[in-house]
Amino acid sequence: MKNVANRKTAGAEAARDDQAIDVTLRPVAWDDYIGQEKVKDNLRVILKAAKGRGEAADHLLFSGPAGLGKTTLAYLVARELGGLVKTTSGPALEKTGDLAAILTNLNPGEVLFIDEAHRVNPSIEEVLYPAMESRKLHLVVGKGPSARTLSLDLPPFTLIAATTRENLLSQPLRSRFGATFRLGYYTIEDIKKILNRSAKILGAEATPEAVGVLARAARGTPRIANRLLRRARDFAEVHGAPVIDEAAARKTLEMLDVDEAGLEPNDRRLLLTIIEKFNGGPVGINTLSAALSEERGVIEDIYEPYLMTLGFLQRSSAGRIVLPAAYKHLKIKGRDELL
Ligand code: ADE
Repeated sequence: MKNVANRKTAGAEAARDDQAIDVTLRPVAWDDYIGQEKVKDNLRVILKAAKGRGEAADHLLFSGPAGLGKTTLAYLVARELGGLVKTTSGPALEKTGDLAAILTNLNPGEVLFIDEAHRVNPSIEEVLYPAMESRKLHLVVGKGPSARTLSLDLPPFTLIAATTRENLLSQPLRSRFGATFRLGYYTIEDIKKILNRSAKILGAEATPEAVGVLARAARGTPRIANRLLRRARDFAEVHGAPVIDEAAARKTLEMLDVDEAGLEPNDRRLLLTIIEKFNGGPVGINTLSAALSEERGVIEDIYEPYLMTLGFLQRSSAGRIVLPAAYKHLKIKGRDELL
């Protein structure tokens, strides 16, 4: 048992170290934020105009898969608007009073960042609507017939909400944002730039070939790229290698069970299940969810977006279909070839 406990502690420690490094690698200036050019351009216009008018910027919604830099972007916006930011998240707001306390403590011009906004409870959302729309906080005091609503004025502020599941946000909430920015997966070239920047900050040297290998396996996601880089640095260090070369990068992926396109065991299991149990599809999402013993939301949000980007999977009205590129990648003969 002792071993298990130790392993757990070591795992938690490693995760904490990784998180601390994540913060170290986070860009704090616009010019360090690589990629998402359209988003950055549009944001710059909104921020410049708001600053020019001396007003708080419109409320902003950032959506997209995890690890693409939504929080980083929110902090960059806050920095541009004067640097003040209060942070919370959907699950952290348990009672309406939690949100009321944060709202009444905002300073003029401050940014309120709500992560995982799709997990904000509907009763708390009701408090957000007038706060966003007319900077009013409506508080119900008392109960029953003697209950009254108190209305408090809030200072000008900008709400930035981030979500991995924009479709789960209620329409009334969505419509109250002045702009919505959808972050997409980064190109391999952008991921390479991010890896080179991170390597420099970490004081690690990686060959261009190694950077290429890690970038192709990073699922277009900076957070994953940085994690692979850290593991490759560990590998090189442990083997007394002064630089991360291509062999070290490949060995790192092998150890992590990540293939060269960035697929993990669960991605392969999903594709193989459709191929082997459902003859390549189409298979409905609920059937697939049952076959994999995996929640539908996890399949839809975590596995499928990247597989679709690679052209490995298609969502159709009849269900999920594995595409020829996936058969090729998995070195499996396709249906047509088997006939
Ligand atoms: N880390 C997370 N997102 C990033 C980005 N867009 N550029 C550089 N580093 C990042």
